[in-house]
Amino acid sequence: MKRKICLVAGARPNFMKIAPLEKEISEYPDDFEKLLVHTGQHYDDEMSKSFFKDLNLPEPDIYLGVGSGSHAEQTARIMIEFEKVCSQEKPDSIVVVGDVNSTLACSIVASKMNIKIAHVEAGLRSFDRTMPEEINRIVTDSLSDFLFVSEKSGITNLYNEGVNPEKLHFVGNIMIDSLLTNLKAVEASQILKKLKLEEKKYCAMTLHRPDNVDHKKSLTEICEILAFISEKVSIVYPIHPRTYKMLKAYHLLEKFNDLSNLHILQPLGYLDFMKLMTKALFVMTDSGGIQEETTYLNIPCLTLRNNTERPITLEEGSNQLVGRDIELIKKCVTDILDGNVKDSRRPELWDGKTATRIVEVLRKKEAN
Ligand code: UD1
Repeated sequence: MKRKICLVAGARPNFMKIAPLEKEISEYPDDFEKLLVHTGQHYDDEMSKSFFKDLNLPEPDIYLGVGSGSHAEQTARIMIEFEKVCSQEKPDSIVVVGDVNSTLACSIVASKMNIKIAHVEAGLRSFDRTMPEEINRIVTDSLSDFLFVSEKSGITNLYNEGVNPEKLHFVGNIMIDSLLTNLKAVEASQILKKLKLEEKKYCAMTLHRPDNVDHKKSLTEICEILAFISEKVSIVYPIHPRTYKMLKAYHLLEKFNDLSNLHILQPLGYLDFMKLMTKALFVMTDSGGIQEETTYLNIPCLTLRNNTERPITLEEGSNQLVGRDIELIKKCVTDILDGNVKDSRRPELWDGKTATRIVEVLRKKEAN
């Protein structure tokens, strides 16, 4: 029997996780009727539309247009709008990815309407409940019927939480599917030429976590860190709108702009950013996904956080947690410049076939 399946995406890091699933599900038109819903949590062209284009995602069937707001406002708006979609479209199941507010909001709605939930990237835990994403992960996992896990720690965490093992499926990392599908297009990106950058001669940076960018003190510390690094190597920094807003609010934008080797750019699309990352000497970030992509690509990654929900990137990958510890960062950067870098192994099942494994499970289980 054909099942109606609703794929949910809302924020930038969702799009590269939904794209491989959208394609794989489209291969089985006799099994699935597919509905792509974009909540509109991210809405600027460079945070959303450019990703649809780069990843060859079709236009969403339904756009909820919820926009920004406090956590409660945004989550509530998504819930109200998504409930209307579910009432009208009556999907049999929904697929949510990652840990953003859209993931949480749509899962709550579906669970109350007895619609099955598949969570891709289940089981990741930072054990830090001050992070909004940790709350989103815990709640989403507790409501989900299918828990698709990207790394082994996810299985351990879910077992420890007493989850029914039948719900667990270790399928690997869906983002690597997107990376591998797009490798040629990434290679063809002209972003290095455009920015007059030489391969392995710069650091690529992203920062957007509230803990790093929402406070004047942390942004000032980061400015000091960047002042040190930019004396040694240039830093290319596509800036998240949240961070830009905060730098302006705290009158720190000028201080950042004064660093001559720091190049602040608009947010980049998927292909350009991946190119920037693959050719970087090293990466500095507080993003979850980038810790994984750098591990896969064996690019040294300094993560400006004190914890990670992706421990495999530390155990097997090229990731190091450095917080905002300037002395530690100085040491790590000096090591990288001296060629003393940690070697990285590709984690199990990060092989570009995760979407295939997920859809196989959904076809088998949904048919019962
Ligand atoms: C969200 C996710 C975070 C993810 C990040 C990736 C939650 C709780 N957080 O954080 O897990 O790592 O996306 O980017 O879901 N804004 C714009 N244009 C946009 C989108 C946002 O200007 O298209 C600005 C708005 O001022 C907004 C702020 O950025 O208030 C924050 O956006 P929001 O979606 O609330 O959280 P992110 O920080 O992007």
